[in-house]
Amino acid sequence: MNLLTATSLSHAFEYPLFEEISLELKAKESMAIIGVSGSGKSTLMHILSSMLVPNKGRVELFGEDIYRLHEKELVELRRYRLGLIYQSHYLLKGFSGYENLEVAALMANQTIDNSLLESLGIDKVCHQKVTELSGGQQQRVSIARVLSKKPQLIFADEPTGNLDHATAQEVMTIFFNYLQEHDAGMVLVTHDESLASQCNHIYRMHDGILTKVK
Ligand SMILES: Nc1ncnc2c1ncn2[C@@H]1O[C@H](COP(=O)(O)OP(=O)(O)OP(=O)(O)O)[C@@H](O)[C@H]1O
Ligand SMILES: [Mg+2]
Repeated sequence: MNLLTATSLSHAFEYPLFEEISLELKAKESMAIIGVSGSGKSTLMHILSSMLVPNKGRVELFGEDIYRLHEKELVELRRYRLGLIYQSHYLLKGFSGYENLEVAALMANQTIDNSLLESLGIDKVCHQKVTELSGGQQQRVSIARVLSKKPQLIFADEPTGNLDHATAQEVMTIFFNYLQEHDAGMVLVTHDESLASQCNHIYRMHDGILTKVK
């Protein structure tokens, strides 16, 4: 069974953004979406992750057509099964990094994995207020927050955009190991070709068309 199946997605804002996009993703697999700024990568990600309804097309998550689910089922699917890491990380600003993780874990009935914090290199700093963390530290707290939910499908939009190359590589290795250990899948938007090349599949968004390049 596919974790994700998208069929003939088309979307427009003021002008047509993309047409007839179809793709699929299986457990333990990762997919990179690359393309120039403004080509529609984040918009596609929002559609695939159930946060935006396209003008046309169908999205199935875990074998279910998400537009046929009741609102409550969709909310539970997002809460327990999806891990969303967006370009701007929405951490609760008045709290420490660790408190942000506690909220996420509580919501998903999970516990915080301290070895994850160590491997992300944030075990020492995560007790500081979010506003006192560097951009890259905040990004890693966001990643820890999402993985603490133990999602089956991860949508990550430039999750390592604020990190130096070595740290980005370490973070990606954590993601790839997570996918194998939890039978999960990942859709990754990235501008980094070397990170993209480590994914099982690569798609390029260009002039409203998504082409499979690997
Ligand atoms: N909510 C919206 N309303 C109107 N236009 C939008 C909206 N969201 C995105 N757009 C437009 O759609 C186009 C694609 O945006 P999108 O964020 O998907 O690009 P992207 O490929 O993720 O770019 P980047 O690499 O810079 O993140 C842009 O021209 C953007 O202005
Ligand atoms: Mg984007």
